[in-house]
Amino acid sequence: MRHFLTLSDHTPEELNWLIQRAIELKQMHKRGEIYEPLRNRVLGMIFEKSSTRTRVSFEAGMAQLGGHAIFLSPRDTQLGRGEPVEDSARVLSRMVDVVMIRTFEHETVERFAAYSQVPVINALTDDFHPCQLLADIQTYVEHRGSIQGKTVAWVGDGNNMCQSYINAAQQFDFKLNIATPEGFEPSQFLLDEAADRVTLMRDPKEAVRGADLVATDVWASMGQEDEKEQRLRKFRDYQVSRELLDLANKDVLFMHCLPAHRGEEVSEDLLDDPRSVVWDEAENRLHAQKALLEFLLCQED
Ligand code: CP
Ligand code: NVA
Repeated sequence: MRHFLTLSDHTPEELNWLIQRAIELKQMHKRGEIYEPLRNRVLGMIFEKSSTRTRVSFEAGMAQLGGHAIFLSPRDTQLGRGEPVEDSARVLSRMVDVVMIRTFEHETVERFAAYSQVPVINALTDDFHPCQLLADIQTYVEHRGSIQGKTVAWVGDGNNMCQSYINAAQQFDFKLNIATPEGFEPSQFLLDEAADRVTLMRDPKEAVRGADLVATDVWASMGQEDEKEQRLRKFRDYQVSRELLDLANKDVLFMHCLPAHRGEEVSEDLLDDPRSVVWDEAENRLHAQKALLEFLLCQED
């Protein structure tokens, strides 16, 4: 039984296979082919934070693969009333075939996985967002081919997305320039581990020079609402705009996991720039996670 808590839970070969499979499943879906390997299988979806893309892509993905998904919010489950994660994991995993969790502390998904009898997928924690990286890499591959050996620039907060980009740099073998303001760096442990391919910088212009892909995310993540005003000031010089992208390689792509705040981390017009592939990126959550669900549930069939 395998979990997907970070990109490091899978080998580079497995991850590249998942990307190719996602591309294939997308083509099958566009052709209208019915493919239902997960008939009678059930996904439990625990959301302790809001979501549009993640919920809809997992729920639609399970339906398309012939299975079902159950949405579980802390507001109306016993998890929200203090039932221990370990007990919830033991009970839920006797009823469903796979569990997806979006929560705050990364340790929560690790504890859940330790007590679960079925695969557990991290659908975002404060530290990592690995499902989004599957979609991002798929999107890059579809538009430009392999990402191996390319240069990616991360501009903005050293948050869960940034940290998953560090994992991705190691697993998919690309160079990553990270530009964050002082005090908003990703974990030093992750930076040290990936020191051969990840460089921390202050200047966004320096980070995007020579970049094949530029990515950013909101300045205040879910759970950081109280810091919003302070963050707006600290990140002022970190907005990704058309002018910043002009400093990158000619065929650069721009990605944002969304939701985006126009006028903050991205200029008003950036999502509509021809270099932006954010809508394909959002769509690919569906295809990449279908590949992941198939991988986790069908490998022994
Ligand atoms: N990108 C992403 O995970 O979006 P949601 O928060 O809408 O799920
Ligand atoms: N960093 C953002 C990503 C949302 C998909 C957050 O955690 O809120």
